[in-house]
Amino acid sequence: MPISIIIGAQWGDEGKGRVVDWLASSADIVARYAGGDNAGHTIALDGEVYKLHLLPSGVLHDQVVSVMGNGMVINPVNLVREIKALRNMGIAISPRNLIISSRAHIITPAHIALDSAKESALGAAKIGTTLRGIGPAYLDKSGRAGIRTGDMLLDVEVFAERLIRAIEAANAVLRQQGGEALDARAAAMSYLEAAEFLRGFIQDASIYLHKALNNGARVVCEGAQGTLLDIDHGSYPFVTSSSPTAGGALTGLGVGPLTVDRVLGVAKAFSTRVGGGPMPTELAGEVANRLRGSGDNFWDEFGTTTGRPRRCGWLDGVMLRYATMINGFSELMLTKLDILSGFDELKLATAYEIDGVRSEHPPVTNAQLERATAIYETLPGWTEDISSCRTFAALPAAARQYIQRIAALCEAPINMVSVGPERDQLVRR
Ligand code: GDP
Ligand code: IMO
Ligand code: MG
Repeated sequence: MPISIIIGAQWGDEGKGRVVDWLASSADIVARYAGGDNAGHTIALDGEVYKLHLLPSGVLHDQVVSVMGNGMVINPVNLVREIKALRNMGIAISPRNLIISSRAHIITPAHIALDSAKESALGAAKIGTTLRGIGPAYLDKSGRAGIRTGDMLLDVEVFAERLIRAIEAANAVLRQQGGEALDARAAAMSYLEAAEFLRGFIQDASIYLHKALNNGARVVCEGAQGTLLDIDHGSYPFVTSSSPTAGGALTGLGVGPLTVDRVLGVAKAFSTRVGGGPMPTELAGEVANRLRGSGDNFWDEFGTTTGRPRRCGWLDGVMLRYATMINGFSELMLTKLDILSGFDELKLATAYEIDGVRSEHPPVTNAQLERATAIYETLPGWTEDISSCRTFAALPAAARQYIQRIAALCEAPINMVSVGPERDQLVRR
């Protein structure tokens, strides 16, 4: 079967972009299925660092067609900016190699204003969103009030009128919340140029995919965010508003489950989270600072989209096992193993203690998760620099032991590990 789905197994930023970029070398199509420019996917290639927010991570490969699926929410102005920035870096992007689903939803300026207003109103209880308008855009989608990318194919005036009406409707809410209303006409006008630019890229992406699959195309489906940010399976309400999990790939592209033969979970070798919400293995102090890095390197743990320092901690095996179950990972892959070099010992959470009771699964409620303390297993560390290892045999015994323990805990094979941010810094079985 021709479809591989690549999914973040934690709270996002697992290194999905670099993995998808690598898998794209043997793919015909890379298709993103969820989220919007809340995502930040970093690819390091030949001394250049590419940060993608909307475009699929196969875009650096000449032979790959990139598809933006119906499950996405797209800010057209930011998409045009991203396309132009990549073109300036010498990457060819045209309707020949980029297809935008006509059924994706548009993020309007009103959605962005509403996202901010809602976060301000929540005060200390805020979710810590990326303020890209994601939640309000998905709310309009499920409330059947959204504007879709296909609407950019309409007569300009009709499209502008729709935008103005949507922004005016949001203004009423913004005023209620004490926020500032937008100039609906000016805000809508800023979108018309982007709509004109994007017209040629828009088509029914599901039909495109089906034809390609019938012709034998190999498709990589790229998840954004991560399993623990899933609207259903994450620590609600500290989640995003889409389905980054395996099911989301099917609805977010319009393909059937029998076309899928590989579900690859990407997990960082430790835990990070950005934004609010429970994180049982979160650390403060020296270990956290070492995991995060100083910020001097592009791979250090500072948000690709917002620049916020990421919360860091030991690997949460309870959550990783849960993610493996939710998605049915056929395999797991670990990224950033190189960052663990030099620790005397490593800790791996294998259970939680909640109100004096041991549990090997995430608890039923978020309040319980807030009270969970991690129960750790301690494993030996290693001192060697592993960034030039390319085979499992070349890794230090302690690194192999760490990998094997995670695979056993999650009952999923680990056949790939990354040991640096560059495309070829991969250890494969
Ligand atoms: P994504 O959102 O899942 O694509 O991940 P991000 O790009 O937001 O964050 C992952 C960060 O880790 C990026 O800066 C990558 O360049 C970096 N990275 C990925 N894999 C590795 C690795 O194996 N080692 C190191 N040192 N950095 C990595
Ligand atoms: P990638 O694809 C990490 C987090 C935000 C916030 C919550 C809701 O790079 O892994 P939203 O703006 O989606 O309404 O924010 O989700 N979040 C991410 N965290 N990586 C991401 O994407 C994220 N996208 C959203 O920080 O906690
Ligand atoms: Mg990211």
